Amino acid sequence: MTLVYLAVLVLFLLALLVVFAPLRGAPRPFPENPRPEELRLELEALKREAKELSGAERVRVLKRIAWIERELGAAAAKEEARAARPAGRVPVWGVLLLVAGGLALAAVLVHHTLPRLPGGAVTESLAIKEAKKLKELRAKAERENTPEAWMAYADYAFELHDLERALEGYDKVIQLDHKNVKAYRRIGVILFLAGRPAEAAEVLAVVTQVDPDPEGLLFLGNAYFQLGRYQDAIAAWQEYLNRGGGERERVESLIETARARLEATDPGEIVYAEKCASCHGAKGEGGIGPKLAGNPILNAPEAVAEIVRNGRGTMPAIPLSDQEMAALLAYLKKL
Ligand code: HEC
Repeated sequence: MTLVYLAVLVLFLLALLVVFAPLRGAPRPFPENPRPEELRLELEALKREAKELSGAERVRVLKRIAWIERELGAAAAKEEARAARPAGRVPVWGVLLLVAGGLALAAVLVHHTLPRLPGGAVTESLAIKEAKKLKELRAKAERENTPEAWMAYADYAFELHDLERALEGYDKVIQLDHKNVKAYRRIGVILFLAGRPAEAAEVLAVVTQVDPDPEGLLFLGNAYFQLGRYQDAIAAWQEYLNRGGGERERVESLIETARARLEATDPGEIVYAEKCASCHGAKGEGGIGPKLAGNPILNAPEAVAEIVRNGRGTMPAIPLSDQEMAALLAYLKKL
């Protein structure tokens, strides 16, 4: 295999040499572009090549295609203004060799990097497998019509974020087993995920009275939070932690955010609690994002506004109205 790589590499380097040899002569003040015909040839070859490639290789080839197309446009414009020049310095067969070498190199690279990339084909086949399994579980549930079988179907759909099917499955479970707490809880969770926090809170408030699993409390807190009922949200999340819920860190920070929201009277503080505290800490002490309290960057409010508007590194852009931005910048000075 190594021999093949070497051969390909040598071919490629040779082609490079042939193509660029003419350019090694005395430097010319105004190097000319290869003639349009040659560019067109390369363009065609590259377009064929681009179809076969993916990822960074494809991007590279597409960039080259864009460049050639631009050059060809410019050349056509110049052509009208001046008489035809002598033949280009780069031989056609050299370009062809280069393209062939590049193609071979690309093929080897693609062949060897593809299996490691999460390629489209891999994802697709996974999706097909998941759909098939879901279908099987459904067929089984319809055949057996037991709460357990419907539960297995609904749980799998839930896992796949197929909320509609999950809801349908949990509904069937309840029809067959009126006291199934988990099915009620999941329906509450799905209501929340579907953007219906009021109904979710209604269901989960009842379910969590009898349900030993803390999952319902997490989503009950989320639903209350969305409804602006911060005190209730804090209570639900606190109970979630008391019952040993797994998402300790995240929920603790949610509680902090809700507390900040509860205490906030300053509109800038509200913006901060809502949009920044989760990453920079409730009091700007830092977290996922750097410490903001006492950070010299706060002396340059335009710079801060710029970062907020456009994001930076892993910090996302956070769209704010002019009023919110002004209030936020005023609040940040007090950190
Ligand atoms: C999702 C997490 C996240 C959120 C939300 C977030 N930030 Fe950031 N922030 C970061 C990270 C991470 C950095 C570091 C970015 C880098 O330099 O790569 C950062 C950097 C900054 C900086 C530059 C700090 C420095 O010392 O260079 C400022 C200022 C800042 N954020 C302000 C804000 C403000 C104000 C908000 C709310 C409107 C906010 N951030 C919301 C994660 C976040």
